Amino acid sequence: MSDGRRTQAHRSDGALTDTLGRPMRDLRISVTDRCNFRCTYCMPKEVFGRGFEFLDRSEILSFEEIARLARLFVALGVRKLRITGGEPLVRKDVEQLIAMLAAIEGLDDLTVTTNGSLLKRKARALRNAGLQRITVSLDSLDNDVFKSMNDVDFPAERVLEGIEAAVEAGLSPVKVNMVVKRGVNDHTVLEMARHFRGRGQTLRFIEYMDVGNANGWRLDDVVPAGEIIARINAEMPLEPVGPNYRGEVARRYRYKDGSGEIGVIASVTQPFCGDCTRARLSAEGRLYTCLFASRGHDLRALLRGGKPDGEIAEFLRSVWSRRDDRYSELRSSATPGLPKVEMSRIGG
Ligand SMILES: C[S@@+](CC[C@H](N)C(=O)[O-])C[C@H]1O[C@@H](n2cnc3c(N)ncnc32)[C@H](O)[C@@H]1O
Ligand code: SF4
Repeated sequence: MSDGRRTQAHRSDGALTDTLGRPMRDLRISVTDRCNFRCTYCMPKEVFGRGFEFLDRSEILSFEEIARLARLFVALGVRKLRITGGEPLVRKDVEQLIAMLAAIEGLDDLTVTTNGSLLKRKARALRNAGLQRITVSLDSLDNDVFKSMNDVDFPAERVLEGIEAAVEAGLSPVKVNMVVKRGVNDHTVLEMARHFRGRGQTLRFIEYMDVGNANGWRLDDVVPAGEIIARINAEMPLEPVGPNYRGEVARRYRYKDGSGEIGVIASVTQPFCGDCTRARLSAEGRLYTCLFASRGHDLRALLRGGKPDGEIAEFLRSVWSRRDDRYSELRSSATPGLPKVEMSRIGG
């Protein structure tokens, strides 16, 4: 970026904090609201079926618009970008966006979260574009279970092939996300742990969350992270490890025999709002300051309204400095019914 284009916000050292003293360090960018899976906990077919109206191409931010916003966020202190969706790899030429983002100075980490279905084909291009590492979602190795969750008959082996391609392309360390839903896939937790242990791939168990309003979430469906850890520990002894950095969402554990580590993302039973440093940009350019927010701030209108960088940066600064979200800490029997943005819009 040339100095001539630097605005006051560009020169900021990133000391931007919200009303609870939380700095803005991470930005999750959703590049599409579409997906080739229909995970029952995210895009159930009854809601996201044939008649569902996805965003029109013209409504979605272009790569240039995304990269421009990303530069402004980085100038305000963001150090980590995660590209997500919907399914980010269904967005045409997404590697071109990766290359544009990888070129931003001041970024420490650039990654993608994907369902892995197109990874075998795309891993090399992503790596060549400058992607450093990748997170792949896989909810079970048992095909009956996995297919019942992705609801498009997609086999687990093809996701494993994608993971292998990512490792071969140098996208490591690969992290694997498993959403655990009671009575659906929790009986396959140990099989997953056994498979990924010793491979250098960190498996992270995610408590099923009440994101959006489409998935009919009930607290009874949540398997608490403590229970998952206890089950694994009984067979493969574990010990806790401290966080890598402030705001790390996963609580880390390592196998006592040195065969690797796992993580748990316990947003329901052990909320981590107090350390949440994440902003989220939806595919149509809305800024959300919480995964459970009902309202986003329209950045696309600023971009397409011809606003200069300085004005947009000032808007970002004002939104973050007024931020007071802590949904998971306030979660109660009443909160799941509140209107919230769908996960497929902001990508987790
Ligand atoms: C919304 S997806 C988007 C990226 C990509 N399609 C994927 O599945 O990895 C991001 C992550 O959110 C997780 N997720 C979706 N709905 C969830 C829910 N209700 N509770 C917990 N995690 C969820 C997915 O399993 C995935 O790991
Ligand atoms: S979790 Fe990811 S793969 Fe599954 S429906 Fe949602 S966006 Fe698609």
